[in-house]
Amino acid sequence: MTTEVSASLIATLPGHYYTDPDVFLQEQERLFEALWCCAVRAADLDRPGAYRTVQVGRESVLVTRARDGGLRAFLNVCRHRGARLCADEAGQVRRSLQCPYHAWTYDLEGRLIAAPNLTRMPDVDRSAYGLVEVALREWLGYAWVCLADAPPSFEDTVIGEARERLGDPASIERYRTQDLALGHRVRYEVRANWKLIVENFMECYHCATIHPELTDVLPEFADGFAAQYYVGHGAAFGDDVSGFTVDGSPGFGRLPDVADDQDRRYYAITVKPAVFVNLVPDHVILHRMFPLAVDRTVVECDWLYAPDVIASGADLSKSVELFHRVNEQDFAACERTQPAMGSRAYRRGGVLVPTEHHIGVFHHWLIRRLAS
Ligand code: FES
Ligand code: FE
Repeated sequence: MTTEVSASLIATLPGHYYTDPDVFLQEQERLFEALWCCAVRAADLDRPGAYRTVQVGRESVLVTRARDGGLRAFLNVCRHRGARLCADEAGQVRRSLQCPYHAWTYDLEGRLIAAPNLTRMPDVDRSAYGLVEVALREWLGYAWVCLADAPPSFEDTVIGEARERLGDPASIERYRTQDLALGHRVRYEVRANWKLIVENFMECYHCATIHPELTDVLPEFADGFAAQYYVGHGAAFGDDVSGFTVDGSPGFGRLPDVADDQDRRYYAITVKPAVFVNLVPDHVILHRMFPLAVDRTVVECDWLYAPDVIASGADLSKSVELFHRVNEQDFAACERTQPAMGSRAYRRGGVLVPTEHHIGVFHHWLIRRLAS
């Protein structure tokens, strides 16, 4: 994707895109229920019978670790009378999932295996009433799901987009995210429309104002030019900075396959619609967004490290603290913006200055998808 930068200003989306429940409904249908969404970290489901539930568009999706060791995803809806099968966000069963309403029971592959009095109901075809399966792919150590009947190509959309942003040689695969261990996770409840969070992540015009710790570590961010579309080269650490930590103190050893030209650099990519991947030499930070309402978004952020770093019991606090502060600073800015989206001052939107013009590319993509 090419981005033309001119000196002129271009308009943002009008305010109602961030407040109108009808727009949010369209986004649920045409984005979150149509594209691949990053649902759960695969290693969180560490043995057969482990499950997690996540909100994808308007659906609750149940992801299980099946007996064959693979992951499966289903709509979290009992096929009898529609009760939500699993109410908890996470759990562990032995070998089956039982509906709490009339006790229909499904195995971990979603087959209906038992129901009270089923033998007296010869017209119930068990094979026709298994859980409704959802497409699932694993990548970067996460289960990505797609609710579409005919999912778009995972390679062309998700993987292709991530590679396009990073380019060669800064290949995302070199961080071997799927082999990393979870060091820390924070779930942020953000009172803002999900697009404000994406747009904020895509620009660094705000970095000098709200991210003092980050701009100390990445001095070029203070210039406001370090948007994702322009940092395919990676943003360099400051000369006096040892690691990607809250005070620039040393982090951990470089991940084994990270190349020399990726060392001491920070790369950030957005995988549309709602995933951010941040790559630094010694860890990966991955954000998954779950838009719950037009003005409410849950962001789950994982800090991932080499397994031996986690096994050693190393103190991660300075490493985690840097991006935790960045997250809190960013989300506070989004929450500050959300109420004004309904103001008459923003009826026609605001403006994108030249260092934000690539956000217009995101808006074009969004408008095209909503019209499709
Ligand atoms: Fe699930 Fe009846 S709704 S068993
Ligand atoms: Fe920011």
